[in-house]
Amino acid sequence: MQNLWTSVEDYLDELFVDSDPVLEAILHDQEASGLPAIQVTPLEGKFLQMITRLMKAKYVLEIGTLAGYSAVLFARALPDDGKVVTLEVEQANAEVARRNFARAGQEMKIAMRVGAALDILPDLKEEGLVFDLIFIDADKENNVHYVKHALDMSHPGTLIVVDNVIRDGDVINHDSNSPMSQGVRRMNEYVKSEPRLVRHGNSDRRLEGLRRHVVHAGQRIANGVPAHHGDANHGLGRLCNLSRAHDADFGRVRRPV
Ligand SMILES: C[S@@+](CC[C@H](N)C(=O)[O-])C[C@H]1O[C@@H](n2cnc3c(N)ncnc32)[C@H](O)[C@@H]1O
Repeated sequence: MQNLWTSVEDYLDELFVDSDPVLEAILHDQEASGLPAIQVTPLEGKFLQMITRLMKAKYVLEIGTLAGYSAVLFARALPDDGKVVTLEVEQANAEVARRNFARAGQEMKIAMRVGAALDILPDLKEEGLVFDLIFIDADKENNVHYVKHALDMSHPGTLIVVDNVIRDGDVINHDSNSPMSQGVRRMNEYVKSEPRLVRHGNSDRRLEGLRRHVVHAGQRIANGVPAHHGDANHGLGRLCNLSRAHDADFGRVRRPV
């Protein structure tokens, strides 16, 4: 089964992933700098770009930058006046990422903040930032806190994508003492209990390094009552085309009322 999934993925990669010297240089720099190869795969990246474009997202928040591979993919999928805010705790990773943002010509579109996400997220909230798409891809132990912060910086229709939620299948092992798996389970329980979220989980892939996303979309709350707008089919959880209240200046994005 393992080999079959690997072969299918290789087949799809070959078909649909075009050669991209900039992305290849980013991955080369990541490896040469001694960073682990834990970035999204090219196919996952294409999927994220596709939903970013379909949503017509303008503002993306990413938690977990590494060498900047996914941040560059998001930036490329945004309109010229779009922005990616990406958070990274490791100074060394941030330096590599900064280099890669320049290499990709995306440094104007990507704002990186260096530090622990749990310290930075309250500042972003304080600044009144609201995002169209939020990608959570950092320390799994804190996932539940990240989702809570993400909800606070969402508008109805915001898509929240969480990576690595299967943990090689360990997520269904109730006896697992892996802090990461426990973190994912805590998040999933919270998500289940949160009425503002429309939920979708995606678990298909080879067993080695299963790392599909759970996709959540903010649900419209009308007069305190959740309004229902269909399902979040394959992560395309944009529920309705609600008007947003973005100012032209990213620093002054207003929360929709
Ligand atoms: C899986 S990698 C991110 C990969 C990246 N999104 C990509 O696909 O190219 C996770 C990153 O999260 C960072 N990280 C871990 N804990 C963090 C925290 N508490 N706050 C911010 N970043 C954190 C790690 O240093 C690492 O660079």
